[in-house]
Amino acid sequence: MAGGWFETVAVAQQRAKRRLPPSVYGALVAGSEKGITIAQNQAAFGEIGFSPHVAGHKPNRNLATEVMGIPISMPVLISPTGVQAVHPEGELAVARAAANRGTIMGLSSFASKPVEAVVEANPNTLFQIYWCGTRDQILQRLERAKAAGAKGIIATLDWSFSNGRDWGSPWIPEKLTVKAAAKFAPQALKRPSWLLDFVRSGRVPDLTAPNLHEPGGETPTFFGAYGEWMNTPPPTWEDVAWLREQWDGPFMLKGVVRVDDARRAVDAGVTAISVSNHGGNNLDTTPASIRVLPGIAEAVGKQIEVLLDGGIRRGSDVAKAVALGAKAVMIGRAYLWGLAANGQAGVENVLDILRGGLDSAVLGQGKSSIHELRAEDLVAPDGFFLRLGEDGLDDRATQHRDPAPEAVRS
Ligand SMILES: Cc1cc2nc3c(=O)[nH]c(=O)nc-3n(C[C@H](O)[C@H](O)[C@H](O)COP(=O)(O)O)c2cc1C
Repeated sequence: MAGGWFETVAVAQQRAKRRLPPSVYGALVAGSEKGITIAQNQAAFGEIGFSPHVAGHKPNRNLATEVMGIPISMPVLISPTGVQAVHPEGELAVARAAANRGTIMGLSSFASKPVEAVVEANPNTLFQIYWCGTRDQILQRLERAKAAGAKGIIATLDWSFSNGRDWGSPWIPEKLTVKAAAKFAPQALKRPSWLLDFVRSGRVPDLTAPNLHEPGGETPTFFGAYGEWMNTPPPTWEDVAWLREQWDGPFMLKGVVRVDDARRAVDAGVTAISVSNHGGNNLDTTPASIRVLPGIAEAVGKQIEVLLDGGIRRGSDVAKAVALGAKAVMIGRAYLWGLAANGQAGVENVLDILRGGLDSAVLGQGKSSIHELRAEDLVAPDGFFLRLGEDGLDDRATQHRDPAPEAVRS
């Protein structure tokens, strides 16, 4: 860890930018269209303020909680992401870091490492699936995850295949063939430390999706799997209920932004939802997830666990989400920057930063536990919070003006 330590997630991002070939960095930045949602996910946390006390702080503070029946040391989980081939150890490094810091690993079905190895690295792994392929194929993936020992499922259903970015999408090869490697070489050679990690590990960046491998078939490439997904008819609510029935354990539906959908998720029998806009990678101009959290938590928070993801870069963001009704948050880019900057130690570093910031917020607010954090202790502009999908769009939505997207994509 010596030398590689960083003090904030923003510093980790700067290191990642310097260290990664531009197209790999661009794949992590992701976003879509004009990048409004990705920018606002982060900016929205800056619009919510604390009201700290001057004395009477509590000397001991409890940050631990439980999500989907799994005790965790703090309310921060690893959200599934599909491009961890940014580091030779990829998801294994992330899973180990999460285990060392006492939290849950979310593993993408588009991940570069097999679920069996990831569960071995972190027994508290949730396996993420998309509605992709036939029901039989989906069942086979669930059965494989079950056999591997995954503790639960995350079904991500918010994807609507937006594509194109105003700042240009990174070039990523379908397969790392000699021709593709030659095209990629000029940018990789300008990033020797990243390249050296792969050379030392004796591997090339993995662009396949081993968790979508079918018995007797070939392991699909990332883009092959994406094509299959695009050609799958989108799920109905009956499909969601069917999917939930196929897994006899904790089940999270990820990607909810509307109150009516949250209620339908309850009807479908889910254990948890994540209030999420896919980190701003999907339908651009969807509001920041933190703005729709309180309405959803109020509507269904007594029946199911409500989590949030999108824009978390600091422990204070975690404290705000918990105060506004989230049982816990999931992080995406924050740990990807840590992974790119310093491998497993970088992910541990990010989790430590979030823990430290969360503890400071709990201390400053005069609480002895995250469970005492309350919305009343926060300040936010009028009309900031939205209830989408209930009595139409909330008319207060018109009062609040979002700040211009900052340069979070740079
Ligand atoms: C590069 C990248 C890849 C992602 N891949 C997946 C995925 O495979 N499955 C999934 O459910 N979500 C995926 N997500 C979304 C994350 O799980 C999460 O919702 C999002 O990153 C949260 O926003 P944040 O990055 O601001 O923390 C991905 C996000 C990024 C940035």
